[in-house]
Amino acid sequence: MPNKNLNKAPSETTVLVTGGAGYIGSHTCVELLNKGYKVVIVDDLSNSKKEAVRRIKEITGVDDSQLIFYENNLLEMDVIQDIFKENEIDAIMHFAGYKAVGESVEKPLEYYVNNLMGSFVLCDCARDAGVKNLIFSSSATVYGDPAEIPITENCPKGNPTNPYGQTKSMQEQVFQDIYVGDNEWNIVLLRYFNPIGAHESGKIGEDPKGIPNNLVPYVSQVAVGKLDKIRVWGDDYDTPDGTGVRDYIHVVDLAKGHVAALEWMAKKNNGVEVFNLGTGKGSSVLEVIKAFEKACGHELAYEIKDRRPGDIATCYADATKAKKEMGWVAEFDINKMCEDSWNWQKNNPDGYR
Ligand code: UFG
Repeated sequence: MPNKNLNKAPSETTVLVTGGAGYIGSHTCVELLNKGYKVVIVDDLSNSKKEAVRRIKEITGVDDSQLIFYENNLLEMDVIQDIFKENEIDAIMHFAGYKAVGESVEKPLEYYVNNLMGSFVLCDCARDAGVKNLIFSSSATVYGDPAEIPITENCPKGNPTNPYGQTKSMQEQVFQDIYVGDNEWNIVLLRYFNPIGAHESGKIGEDPKGIPNNLVPYVSQVAVGKLDKIRVWGDDYDTPDGTGVRDYIHVVDLAKGHVAALEWMAKKNNGVEVFNLGTGKGSSVLEVIKAFEKACGHELAYEIKDRRPGDIATCYADATKAKKEMGWVAEFDINKMCEDSWNWQKNNPDGYR
């Protein structure tokens, strides 16, 4: 079946957003709706809340004619088939998946089943419906311990140190193969660096379950008084201050990167294309803590601990390909990222609960 043509106005284009109630998905829905696209969310709420969908509507002012929500898991194949029948879907942004690195080590099977089979079912149903435009939520984790810094898209894929990272790498391979088998597919793999921050309104943001593993959610909870002290995993790396360096990117910039990818897809021929979405600038753990202290207006207690297994010293993007091809650049700096993370955290100390 021929692929859907994306060369039409946003108001005539419907995007299926899997995982649209989650952290990155919800911010992307806001950017899509602001541009006039129609959005269909499918999310099983395993790591998100329906409240996020209500807040997407509140921020954008859209009603049910522009945003539809299905509370389902991608493995429910019959339902996914029906979603394609009930809606004139043109393109897919695929965010749904389990994403906790540590948990994936303890529950590898759950990660492989949910993330991989979710993608299989999605692609199978999409193909049957003639929807072959896909933007996939990948990760810089596919580079493993990167062979070069800054990391370009030509940097070879490495060996992710955990099942979560493996699922991202394997899904990328599946999408590559699907294109080889059927050249009608138009696929963009977006490799994210470290998304932080929140929508400026403070209405949507990251809402981790339990004690956060990632740096900024942890720092936010220390800042709001829910946790005692930041644990800095190692200060003896080969970096300027000895702490790990990452390319933090504002989640709204990341969301806009998805819209840019969709617009870019509409203008090109089919294929599979990879883009890094990062700022191209690294910040150390101590720099992030300083920026967050500035944002929240008080000092934050921290202690230096041993290195965390599986961590690498430095990871930041060469983001020139996305700029050159899609005209996308990240606008917000680390101070703005921390201000918006703090704004979300202080207005929602218990997340969406
Ligand atoms: N860190 C701390 N203390 C903490 C948490 C993190 O010092 O409590 C440090 C880490 O050692 C690292 C940096 O902060 O140097 C960032 O750690 P995160 O856990 O926030 O992020 P990672 O870079 O480890 O992982 C992130 C995503 C993964 C993704 C990976 C891709 O969480 O999903 O980037 O590079 F796979």
